[in-house]
Amino acid sequence: MRTRVGIVGAGPAGLVLSLLLAERGIDSMIVETRSRAAIEETIRAGVLEQGTVDLLLDHGVGARALAEGAKHDGVELRFGGQGHRIDFAGLTGRSIWLYPQHEVLKDLIAARLKAGAVIRFGASDVSLRDVASDAPVISFVDTGGSPVDLRCDVIAGCDGSAGISRHSIPDAGRVDFFRAYPFGWFGILVEAPRSAPELVYAHSERGFALISTRTPEVQRMYFQCDPEENADDWSDDRIWEELQTRVAGDGFRLTEGRIFQRGVLPMRSYVCEPMRYGRLFLAGDVAHTVPPTGAKGLNLAVADVVLLTDVLERYFTSGSSELFDDYGPTAARRVWRAQHFSWWMTSMLHTAPDASPFDVRRQIGELESVTSSTAGSAYLAEAYTGWPFARLGPRGG
Ligand code: FAD
Ligand code: DHB
Repeated sequence: MRTRVGIVGAGPAGLVLSLLLAERGIDSMIVETRSRAAIEETIRAGVLEQGTVDLLLDHGVGARALAEGAKHDGVELRFGGQGHRIDFAGLTGRSIWLYPQHEVLKDLIAARLKAGAVIRFGASDVSLRDVASDAPVISFVDTGGSPVDLRCDVIAGCDGSAGISRHSIPDAGRVDFFRAYPFGWFGILVEAPRSAPELVYAHSERGFALISTRTPEVQRMYFQCDPEENADDWSDDRIWEELQTRVAGDGFRLTEGRIFQRGVLPMRSYVCEPMRYGRLFLAGDVAHTVPPTGAKGLNLAVADVVLLTDVLERYFTSGSSELFDDYGPTAARRVWRAQHFSWWMTSMLHTAPDASPFDVRRQIGELESVTSSTAGSAYLAEAYTGWPFARLGPRGG
């Protein structure tokens, strides 16, 4: 089998890349370990930056996000028992959209398959060969048990944080920047009406809590917990007591309901450099993972592949690989800004296990500075709603 761009992984990075390439007349094929059903059922992100939604709309896959998603013009930071709104629309002219990642993936998969794209779901034993040569190969075993070699001109490693593609960059030439956090997020899905019109990011001495939403009937909530916590050890009453305590004040109370999904996720910051080696380009979580507090992961994955499409378009239209060297450093500028933002939101809002009373007061001082200053609020609003996409070649600098 042969394709121009072999894509490893059918997450947001891989699927958006195949969509953008197809529109520029460049054929690609996706190899994915999971089944379509598993991808479409996994609960992950909820927040889309304005630029991500605009991109989905511009490329014909945003109609449902627009119709069924919710546009939010701000968020609330809660601390010291009071809410403080950050007015995204007023400060930046931009907004965010609440539309679940698995719905984005359903829309993308349906659109790509309808257009005749090949997505090899359920592949196993995926490995990459000869990535430094002009003829790299993705090898895998298909669902029928047959081994397949997919010969490519280039490979896009879009296989997420546990992916294999970054390991094709030799250890000697790869730097892994890593930071683990001493807490995780306990996430729940709840059948209940919304408790607040916009997202609530709450700081409290007992730790962070986040009140988000999915639909008018289903809400998403998280609270900081021990990363080793077993979600099944918690009774529903204990979960609600913890959440209510962390957001209390101002007479605010969460509307409780049936908890029908729960899980604990670890938090880490990670960057792999370089993001390109030979004919292998990394995009999305396989190259960089952020703690979820800034809602940046999916959006960063999309920004990577917008850039990668420019690089590959230049290559396939002119035969010139001159932009290959620019991909990693250009993508990394946004990645490190997002790393900083995600780390900053995390540090400002979470209570470290060894936090002293000084640390907690200092965080409140910082939250006061951010919410009472137009400059402070504007920084948060700009970063949260997303920076403009960097472009290369004729579309950029
Ligand atoms: P993934 O979505 O991980 O996709 C990678 C794909 O590759 C997967 O389908 C996987 O099965 C496949 N794969 C893995 N290994 C192989 C292999 N060897 N061969 C072939 N295929 C393989 N981001 C936001 O922007 N906003 C948010 O609000 C937000 N909230 C989040 C909340 C939670 C609870 C979590 C967990 C994450 C959140 N994120 C958020 C982050 C976001 O979900 C990720 O950043 C995003 O999924 C990254 O996309 P990706 O395509 O790079 O990787
Ligand atoms: C959601 C996830 C996030 O990481 C975040 O910062 C905000 C909202 C969500 O799942 O709704």
